[in-house]
Amino acid sequence: MTNNGNHAPPGPKGLPILGLALDVRNDALGTLQRMARQYGDIVSMPVLRMNRILLNRPDYIQQLLILDHAKLHKSILTKLVIGPLLGQGLLISEGDFWRRQRRLAQPAFHRSRTNEYSPVMVECALERMRQWRGGETRNIAEEMMKLTLEVAVRTLFGTTLAGDSEAIGKAMTFLMRYYLRRGRSPWRVPASWPTPANRRARREVEYMDSLIYGIISDRKRDTQPRNDLLSMLMAAMHEDGSQMTEKQVRDESMTLFVAGHETTALSLVWTWYLLSENPEAEARLHAELRAVLCGRPAEVSDLEKLPYLNAVVHESLRLYPPAFIMARMNVEAVSVGGYEIPPRSTLLASQWVMHRDARFFEQPEGFLPERWLDGLESRLPPGAYFPFGDGPRRCIGQGFAMLETALVIAAIAQKFRFRLTKGFPVVPEPLVTLRPKYGIEMAIEAR
Ligand code: HEM
Repeated sequence: MTNNGNHAPPGPKGLPILGLALDVRNDALGTLQRMARQYGDIVSMPVLRMNRILLNRPDYIQQLLILDHAKLHKSILTKLVIGPLLGQGLLISEGDFWRRQRRLAQPAFHRSRTNEYSPVMVECALERMRQWRGGETRNIAEEMMKLTLEVAVRTLFGTTLAGDSEAIGKAMTFLMRYYLRRGRSPWRVPASWPTPANRRARREVEYMDSLIYGIISDRKRDTQPRNDLLSMLMAAMHEDGSQMTEKQVRDESMTLFVAGHETTALSLVWTWYLLSENPEAEARLHAELRAVLCGRPAEVSDLEKLPYLNAVVHESLRLYPPAFIMARMNVEAVSVGGYEIPPRSTLLASQWVMHRDARFFEQPEGFLPERWLDGLESRLPPGAYFPFGDGPRRCIGQGFAMLETALVIAAIAQKFRFRLTKGFPVVPEPLVTLRPKYGIEMAIEAR
């Protein structure tokens, strides 16, 4: 019972048994926004007999991610969707195990370390551009995926996977759709049954495993000193002197690989799309790059002289946050907004909803990088803008991703611009991340 006499937060009843399952399946993003508009700061959403609580107020979101974080685990759906691929990696492990692993991995993401990867990031952008000819049309989503895959493989594993990148891209897309469909479906055929989809999923996981275990075993035989994330994970020691098992190294490498390349590619793709639709912002970005860099690729030390570039990245992450929702399950009762939320409920905080909330962003649907130029970020209430999450489980790769995004945009935007193929459907598809459903086909124009 709550202080205002209500048992549960307000919300729709939905259909018998299904609740809002069909709305979520047909239009998850629209449904989330509609719920927030109709029912306010805390909404009860029944989906397949399970109640999901959507939080739409910055302080409630802070409570979820920071204050009450010890009472909250990653949601069952999250574990179901990404667990089979990522095992006990940082993204979904919990408790003491997670804390130990995070402590081990953290030094590898120290700013000084991350900065050392900047030449690789720029080099990968230059290599990708060498494949392009002005006037041709390409699927820019695929191009960005290849680019960030190359960066991930080279920085993580200190090697390249020439020839494998397409197969990896296909495996990842299939697995995300497959696990998500299973997670959201009320009728789940056991994964061990030999249906075509189950068999393909097993094959794709085995393929990804064989790549990563192959690299780990090569590395064990290798005596050269190296500077990649994998060597740091393999060398890292717990306080008691023990090291990660091979399976842990596999899980953490797979996690960094998946969490790192896909999200960063999406932030780049959406940025190119937004710039192409907003030529004034694009022109202002070009002018800033020209004035500061005069045609050469950016280095880390240039970034503070490129405030508009930084604003473009912030604005793109606001409108198309690659992580568009975060879900938690409370392991004990929590009280939010005066409501007692019983244990094992699913609580949700959505970047898609909050980042488009007119209480915090004027003209919320508009692409206006300028809004970030006068210190908006520090004026916003914490919990209103959180593309990288917040609190102890905040993205470990935030610095890496922001650096890569800025360097790649600076390198490419000085040489090319992109224009959407007329009539090409750009449809945000909320899978585990927010992807353009059909990719984004664009003409590449040399500048
Ligand atoms: C634009 C790019 C990226 C975005 C938008 C993004 C977003 C996020 C978000 C929202 C979380 C928190 C999830 C939660 O609390 O439920 C997260 C966690 C995480 N991210 Fe990122 N990420 C990006 C890039 C990266 C990169 C480049 C890496 C690694 C190289 C990475 C590795 C991770 C890991 C390991 C976690 C789990 C941290 C933990 O729970 O301790 N991410 N990311």
